[in-house]
Amino acid sequence: MSVERPQLNLILGKGGTGKSSVTAAFGMAAARAGVPTLVIELAERAVIPEMLGAPPARDEPREIMPGLSAFSIDPEAEAERHLRENLAIGPLIARLTRSGALAEFARAAPGVAELVSLDRVWALAGDARWSRTLVDLPSTGHALALLGAPADAVVVAAGGPLGERAAPLDAALRDPAVTSLKIVTIPTELAVAEAIDAVGALREMGLPEPSVVLNRMQPGVFHPEEAAALEAVAAQGGPEGDVAARAVDAIRRRAHDERLRRELRMATGIDTLTELPALPGEVDADGLWALAAASLESPA
Ligand SMILES: Nc1ncnc2c1ncn2[C@@H]1O[C@H](COP(=O)(O)OP(=O)(O)O)[C@@H](O)[C@H]1O
Ligand SMILES: [Mg+2]
Repeated sequence: MSVERPQLNLILGKGGTGKSSVTAAFGMAAARAGVPTLVIELAERAVIPEMLGAPPARDEPREIMPGLSAFSIDPEAEAERHLRENLAIGPLIARLTRSGALAEFARAAPGVAELVSLDRVWALAGDARWSRTLVDLPSTGHALALLGAPADAVVVAAGGPLGERAAPLDAALRDPAVTSLKIVTIPTELAVAEAIDAVGALREMGLPEPSVVLNRMQPGVFHPEEAAALEAVAAQGGPEGDVAARAVDAIRRRAHDERLRRELRMATGIDTLTELPALPGEVDADGLWALAAASLESPA
């Protein structure tokens, strides 16, 4: 008999590339396809419920649309809770808590915040209420530290209580039947460079081969061959000229985005990317549905 194993989709990338939007959109697509899904934000402040006009999920996961639940974990608060519950120095802890020094201590204990947060994620992922768990990780550097924490702890804390939890966590993260990794990026030099580095770092760590989501791509609605004709119209000015000028600009931006896409493919060797369009204005619930639909149409 095969026992269903938790499915962990971990999403990382440079801050501001749309990690939270993409996590929400992928969660919505999965839920709509009939896969009960949990999204977890590893952040001090949750944003995904709000994106869908739902109240925040504070103490436990809360359904934000049919088939999709949300939760958030603040790694520092999680570390503080862990230390308070596990360190057998009661009166001292009381003093530390009052002075706010416990948070300081949690920050200073390397890997504790990362390990206890991952441990919480893993426990939630194993809950029978959902079969897929998407995790909106912190920005790249923190995310890589988080993903490396169990392996580090296996070495450093071998035998200790956290060390005992580190080994199965590390095994789960390395198992491609359980864990998949998605790097979100956008067509800017900085974001693409960071995504290329992240792919390299994940490969070096021996984690499952990541996939890449290229968000905010300028849609290719015009043909580059039309540029010359459009430029001629734009040069004449007037309302028609304005429209043509905007089209010329769209062609230019598309060419820019395609150049960065080529760079990303070449440097990573990952040919099939999930492409999501740049949406006009703020991404609201309708925008998230548009991204969810695009994610289903994209080849990756
Ligand atoms: N495809 C997109 N088109 C237009 N704006 C987007 C798109 N994806 C994200 N955004 C916007 O970019 C900003 C950052 O998105 P967010 O999901 O919070 O990124 P992150 O979690 O990586 O910091 C938000 O204002 C969001 O609305
Ligand atoms: Mg975010």
